[in-house]
Amino acid sequence: MRVKIAVWLVITLVLFDLPVLARVSVSQRSQSIDRRVDALLSQMTLEEKVGQVHQLFYFTQFMKPEAIEPDIRAGKVGSLLFLTDPALINRFQKVAVENSRLKIPLLFGFDVIHGFHTIFPVPLAMASSWDPALVEQAQSVAAREARAVGIHWTFAPMVDIARDPRWGRIVEGAGEDPFLGARMAAAHVRGFQGTDPSSPDHVLACMKHFAGYGAGSGGRDYDSAYIADAELYNVYLPPFKAAVDAGVGSAMSAYMDLNDVPATGNSFLLRDVLRKQWGFKGFVVSDAEAVGNLVTHGFAEDRSDAAYRALTAGVDLEMSFPGNSIASAYSSSLTKLIAEGRVTKDLLDEAVRRILEAKFKLGLFENPYVDESRVASIHNNPEHRRLARVAAQRSMVLLRNEGNLLPLVKSDPKVSSVAVIGPLADSKRDIRGSWSFVDDVKSAVTVLEGIRAKLGSSVKVEYAPGVDIARVYPSPFGIIQGSRPAPWSETQKREEFEKAVSVARSSDVIILVLGEHEDMSGEAASQSSIELPGRQLELLKTISALGKPLVLVLINGRPLEISWAASNVSAILEAWHPGSEGGNAVADILYGDATPGGKLPVTWPRSAAQIPIYYAHNLTQEPETRKNFTSRYWDIPSSPLYPFGYGLSYTTFSFSNLRVSKPEIKVGESTEVLVDVENTGRRAGEEVAQLYIHQRFGSASRPVRELKGFERVALAPGQKKTIRFTLGKPELTYWSGAVKDWVQEPAAFDLWVGADATAVLATTLRVVKR
Ligand code: BGC
Repeated sequence: MRVKIAVWLVITLVLFDLPVLARVSVSQRSQSIDRRVDALLSQMTLEEKVGQVHQLFYFTQFMKPEAIEPDIRAGKVGSLLFLTDPALINRFQKVAVENSRLKIPLLFGFDVIHGFHTIFPVPLAMASSWDPALVEQAQSVAAREARAVGIHWTFAPMVDIARDPRWGRIVEGAGEDPFLGARMAAAHVRGFQGTDPSSPDHVLACMKHFAGYGAGSGGRDYDSAYIADAELYNVYLPPFKAAVDAGVGSAMSAYMDLNDVPATGNSFLLRDVLRKQWGFKGFVVSDAEAVGNLVTHGFAEDRSDAAYRALTAGVDLEMSFPGNSIASAYSSSLTKLIAEGRVTKDLLDEAVRRILEAKFKLGLFENPYVDESRVASIHNNPEHRRLARVAAQRSMVLLRNEGNLLPLVKSDPKVSSVAVIGPLADSKRDIRGSWSFVDDVKSAVTVLEGIRAKLGSSVKVEYAPGVDIARVYPSPFGIIQGSRPAPWSETQKREEFEKAVSVARSSDVIILVLGEHEDMSGEAASQSSIELPGRQLELLKTISALGKPLVLVLINGRPLEISWAASNVSAILEAWHPGSEGGNAVADILYGDATPGGKLPVTWPRSAAQIPIYYAHNLTQEPETRKNFTSRYWDIPSSPLYPFGYGLSYTTFSFSNLRVSKPEIKVGESTEVLVDVENTGRRAGEEVAQLYIHQRFGSASRPVRELKGFERVALAPGQKKTIRFTLGKPELTYWSGAVKDWVQEPAAFDLWVGADATAVLATTLRVVKR
C-alpha cells in the first residue's frame, strides 16, 4: 500500500505539481521583476529615465573611457554598444553599479552575427544547411563566447527576407523564403537565448530590421521599400513572427521608409503588428541613428520631433553615435517634450520599464560583472572550432559536378601537384565574412591552408592570387576592419596573371577560388551587377582553357553571375564565407572527408537582368508548365540558373511513394504528407526533403509553389526512410489581399516533395468547408 501511495504521489507530482510549481515560479519571478521595476521607476528622476533609453556606441579606437564615465555616473546612459574588452566592460559597469545614484547596471550590446571569437559561416550560409539544430548550436557557442567578455545582448538575428542579390545584406539573413526564414529565425533565437538569458552562457537576441528592409528599391542599401499588405504579412513578416514566438527579447527598427513611413517612426509596425497583433513583450531599439535620421528622411521636422515620433511609434531605446557635435535625439529632447506635455510621462515610463525588465531578466542586478578569468578557457574551447568546421561543411552547396570530378582523391598516383589560385584562396580576412570584428584573424584557415593540411607533404601545392579585386567605393567598415592593400600596378597585374596561369599549367589539378571580399556584401555593400568582381572571369576562362581538371570554389555573400562557369567548369562548390574553419571544411568536401548536402536558400539568377527572381511567384495567364512555353523574355530564359532549394551530393537520392494520410480534410484539420527517400548511390549522404504546395483557387491568387516543410535526412547507401510532414491550419492559412485578413479557404491543393523547388513528384489535397 505504501508503495502504491508513493507511486501515486510521484505520478501526481510529475504530472501535475511540478509543471504547476514551474509555472508558479516563472510567474512569481515575473511578478517580482514587476515589483522591482515599479520600485525603481518610482525613485527615478526624469533625467535618469531619459538615461535608460539612451544607448551609445563606444569605439575603443577613438574614444577615451574618461569621456563617458561622468555620464554613466550621472545615470545618463542606459546601454553601450561595441565594447568587447571585458576589463573595460567591468570598468564602466562599476561606475554604473557603484557610483551612480540608483546603481542601475548598464546593458552591453554587440553585433554577434555569426560567431564571436570562433567565426561560423555567414547567416546565408547557415541557412543553406537547412539544419535549424545546427544553427541553434552555432549561435549558442557564439552567445557563450560573447557573454564571456560581458556582452549581454546581440543585434541578431537579421531575419529580413531578401529577394534581390544586389542587396549587400542578403548575406546576413536566411534568403528569400518566409518558411525557411521562420525556421531559421527561431533557431537563431533559441541558440542565443537558450531557456534562460540570465545564465552566464546566453545573451538576449534582437530580431532585425523590423521590417521590410530587404525590399529596398533596386537592391540599394537603405532605399525605400513599397510592400503591399499581403506581401508584408505573407512574405516579409513571418520570420519576425517566428522569432517573437520563440521568445526573442528585443527587436530593432529598420532604417528605411516602408510605404512612405520610416520604420523607426512607424506605429503600424511597432505598435499594431508587433505589440497588438503578436503580443511582443520585449523592447524595441532603433537602428543606429535612425531616430535622428527621421529628420534626414524628410519625415520629422527636427530632432525633437524625431524623438517624439519614434517614442510615440514604439521605439524604446535609441541607438546613437558618440555625441561630439550632435546629442542623441532622445537625450536632447525628451525632458523638454515632457515639460511641454507633448510626450506623456507614462509613455516614457513604458519604454524605461521594458529596458529595466530586460536588465532584471538578464540577472544584471545580481551579477553585473563578468568574470575575466573565464574568457580564455571559453574562447579556446576546441569544441567550438570543431563545430565551426562541421557548420561550414554542412553549409556548402555543390552546384555542379560533371563526370563526378569531385571528390578528388587524396593520394591519387596521377596527381603530384595541385594549384590553388585566386584572390580569395589565401585571404584570412575574407574566409570569415562580414561582421567578424574581434576574432583572431590569424587563426582563420584559408582554402590554401586547408588544402595543404589535407594533402600533407606528398603533393606539391602551389598558390598564386592571379588578380586583385577591389570595391570602387570603399566600405565604411574599413575604419574598423582596416584598409585593404593598395591596388596592384599595371606591371604587377600582368605579372601576377601570368604567374597564376603558369602555376596552373604546371599542376595536375587546379582549384580556383573566386568570389568577393567580405566587405563586398553586408551593410553598405550593395552592387549594381552580380558579376565576379575584377578580372576573375577572365582568369577563370584562361585557366579553364588549359584543359586540366578544374574545381571552382566560390567565397561570397550573394548569388553571383556564373553562367559561363555553369556550362564550362566541371565542378563548382559554393562555400559562401564559411568562417574560421572555412578552409579546412572546403578541403574536407573537395577530398571527400565530408559529403556536401547544403541547398540554396535563394533562387540563383543567370544574371542581374532577371532580378527580382524568386520561386514563389504567382502564376500568369501563361504558366511555365504550359506546352510550348519557352521564356517570358525573348532574349534569355526566364528560369533561374539554379532553383531555390538546389544542391548536389556525392551520392544520388530518389523520392517515391508520395501520399497524404487524408486526401480530404476540413478547414482547420491536419493531414500527414509522407514520402520515401532513398539513397540510390554508393556513398553515405544527406538529402533535404522539401514539401511545396500550391492552392489552386481562392479569394486571392497564391504563389505557384510555397515551401511548407523540410527535413535534412542522413542515409547510408541503399537506405530508405519515410519522411512525414504535417499540413494543417498554420501551413494552409494566408493573408488575403481581397479579404484583408488571415484566411484558410476550402480549395484544391497541389503538393510536391523533392530535392528543390522544381520537384516533380506530386499529389493533391482537398480542403472542404468545416
Ligand atoms: C546596422 C545594424 C547593426 C547596428 C549596430 C547598423 O548600421 O544596420 O544591423 O546592428 O548598426 O552595429
